[in-house]
Amino acid sequence: MGIKKYRMLVLLFSVLLSLLIVETPTAAAQLSQNYYAGICPNVESVVRGVVSQRLQQSFAAGAGTLRLFFHDCFVRGCDASVLIANPNGDDEGHSGADLSLSADAIDLINKAKAAVDGDPQCTNRVSCADILAMAARDVVSLVGGPFYPVELGRLDGKVSTRAIVKYSLPGPTFNLDQLNSLFAANGLTQTDMIALSGAHTIGVSHCDKFIRRLYQFRGPQEFTPRMNLQFLRQMRQVCPLKYSPSTVAMLDASTPFKFDNAFYQNLQQLEGLLASDQILFADRRSRGTVNWFASNQTAFFDAFVSAMTKLGRVGVKTGDDGELRRVCTTVN
Ligand code: HEM
Ligand SMILES: *[C@@H]1O[C@H](CO)[C@@H](O)[C@H](O)[C@H]1NC(C)=O
Repeated sequence: MGIKKYRMLVLLFSVLLSLLIVETPTAAAQLSQNYYAGICPNVESVVRGVVSQRLQQSFAAGAGTLRLFFHDCFVRGCDASVLIANPNGDDEGHSGADLSLSADAIDLINKAKAAVDGDPQCTNRVSCADILAMAARDVVSLVGGPFYPVELGRLDGKVSTRAIVKYSLPGPTFNLDQLNSLFAANGLTQTDMIALSGAHTIGVSHCDKFIRRLYQFRGPQEFTPRMNLQFLRQMRQVCPLKYSPSTVAMLDASTPFKFDNAFYQNLQQLEGLLASDQILFADRRSRGTVNWFASNQTAFFDAFVSAMTKLGRVGVKTGDDGELRRVCTTVN
């Protein structure tokens, strides 16, 4: 091949490469910690005020808000699509894991949005997606977890549908490979996944999410990691065979209202409620990280902050595919 042709190929290749680089989402570059400094300088304290007030009335709203942020980011990116309620019912909230999202948490975000809009300078200038990201951070730090700067500048999405939810969110019977591949698809490592699972240091689960671990059902038994016998007996009392659909158990039975590393210590005691949590200790490939977070809360907090920041960059909308929603539960 002639030198000219070779040069052409190299040129073509590098043009293609740069196109590729531009095409891959570099949302991180577009988000910034002081995005609202000149737009709505008090936004963080206004949101924090609402979160703190709601937490005093209902701890559940806080846990629900943290989960809401995760579900938002994994389904169509962090664009507040999880909040949209379509009149025909075809929206994320009516599907799969999102059926058990907390109404109190959605209410919390609506209240925070109203409080932000109450300042004329801020009216309709802060996205619901950013308010959710700030609120999730505030919950974490107000219940004992780390405080960290939140990257801001997301737009709100315009689309929410039922169908996509079940392919986008992890299930409570996922094994390590399933968890890793779903998180990897969102740019998150196994360590990020283990740290983010530590969010289960607060909040609750309904019985149906772990009942199969408590009783022998007829038919093929799905694999479930081992559970401490005493804990199993306790959980059978919380969730008898004929449990009520509204009954819940704490995800972190030892310190349910505190954001700490007890979640990982529970896993060491075989007291993880969800199979997808206990598998992190059962599988040799992730056990070391569980032991590390169980023994060093600072290491857990650092990893959690880093993973939450990465989570907050997933599928961010900054162009024509986004808008600043006037009401968080409906598109403009
Ligand atoms: C690793 C994969 C994950 C799986 C399989 C999973 C699954 C679940 C399930 C089944 C529940 C109980 C829902 C119910 O019955 O109402 C739950 C609750 C919860 N999840 Fe996850 N989750 C995962 C990761 C995460 C992440 C990454 C976060 C946040 C960073 C999170 C935050 C929460 C919170 C705070 C609750 C309690 C909600 C409440 O009390 O209202 N989860 N999760
Ligand atoms: C705990 O983790 C932090 C952060 O990674 C680290 O700086 C510290 O040295 C660790 N402490 C111990 C006792 O290993």
